[in-house]
Amino acid sequence: MGKKVILTGDRPTGCLHVGHYVGSLRRRVELQNSGDYEDIFIMIADQQALTDNAGNPQKVRDNIDEVALDYLAAGIDPGKSNILVQSMIPELPELTLYYMNLVTVSRLQRNPTVKAEIQMRNFESNIPVGFFCYPISQAADITAFQATTVPVGEDQEPMLEQTREIVRKFNSLYGETLVEPEIMLPESAACLRLPGTDGKAKMSKSLGNCIYLSDPEEEVKRRVMSMYTDPEHLQVSDPGHLEGNTVFTYLDAFAEDSQVHEYCPDYATLDEMKEHYKRGGLGDVKVKKLLIRVLQDVLGPIRQRRSEYAKDLSYVHEVLKKGTERAREVSADTLSKVKASMGIDYNW
Ligand code: TRP
Repeated sequence: MGKKVILTGDRPTGCLHVGHYVGSLRRRVELQNSGDYEDIFIMIADQQALTDNAGNPQKVRDNIDEVALDYLAAGIDPGKSNILVQSMIPELPELTLYYMNLVTVSRLQRNPTVKAEIQMRNFESNIPVGFFCYPISQAADITAFQATTVPVGEDQEPMLEQTREIVRKFNSLYGETLVEPEIMLPESAACLRLPGTDGKAKMSKSLGNCIYLSDPEEEVKRRVMSMYTDPEHLQVSDPGHLEGNTVFTYLDAFAEDSQVHEYCPDYATLDEMKEHYKRGGLGDVKVKKLLIRVLQDVLGPIRQRRSEYAKDLSYVHEVLKKGTERAREVSADTLSKVKASMGIDYNW
């Protein structure tokens, strides 16, 4: 068996929120600390962010620091994981260029994530070419690091499928060169897609329904207290519903039974508390107060570490430079293999 390598990443278009945390960040830290992986690369995908923010490079630039701070605060350890900046690795666009010849326009048009994004951004008949091709560039991101494992949310499934197709096509045309990666999805449904605090499926800055890792404690409290619950649960004595009840979805994603028992000693487990809610007699405020404490247990230390790192951005930039250097070594190696396989390594 070959070595196990992780590659994953985020677009620097804003601070990371609790959806990122349960959907991938928490897992990355576990994987990093498991010792099962020989190399771990976490990419701040600024070039991909520019594919739909070409008019606002300053926003992308500013958010590189924010995302790096979120990573470090959440427990990404630069001694174990390489954090890198996409645009500082010229091998990536070069790989993209060779892969572009292996993908058809109609195949890109069928990519469900790209389709949804085109709609959301009203690109329709004015699709920027760079945006249209970003799944190919993402295949370059993944294959450049010879990644075996890509821990991401389910919205990235089409990107992984596209990448695997490119790998197979490349290997069959030019000989076994690239590594075919596997997606690694979050374990539970609640973590797969954490809803916004208003119960809407998508968490987004413009909807104002996110809890950010960098939010102060008061803000988190305010957001939880105004969370969407069960509109039919009017009186405490009314039976309550769990489906679509955001507070319980968040508890599923964050709470350990031990915390439930500690903060609400009437219950041994979260399931017991849910049963009570369904029967009636358990008020929303009590459940929300539990969630606030659970979130504080997780977010408190993150917030604390984040503010420490934020005081020393030159350290953060050193981390990025070091991670990017290591990333360049590996991607340069892949690029030379790719060119050799294609027979375009002219040794004149
Ligand atoms: N597309 C990812 C997102 O929108 C970011 C990303 C870019 C990525 N390159 C990647 C994720 C490579 C995993 C692997 O969040």
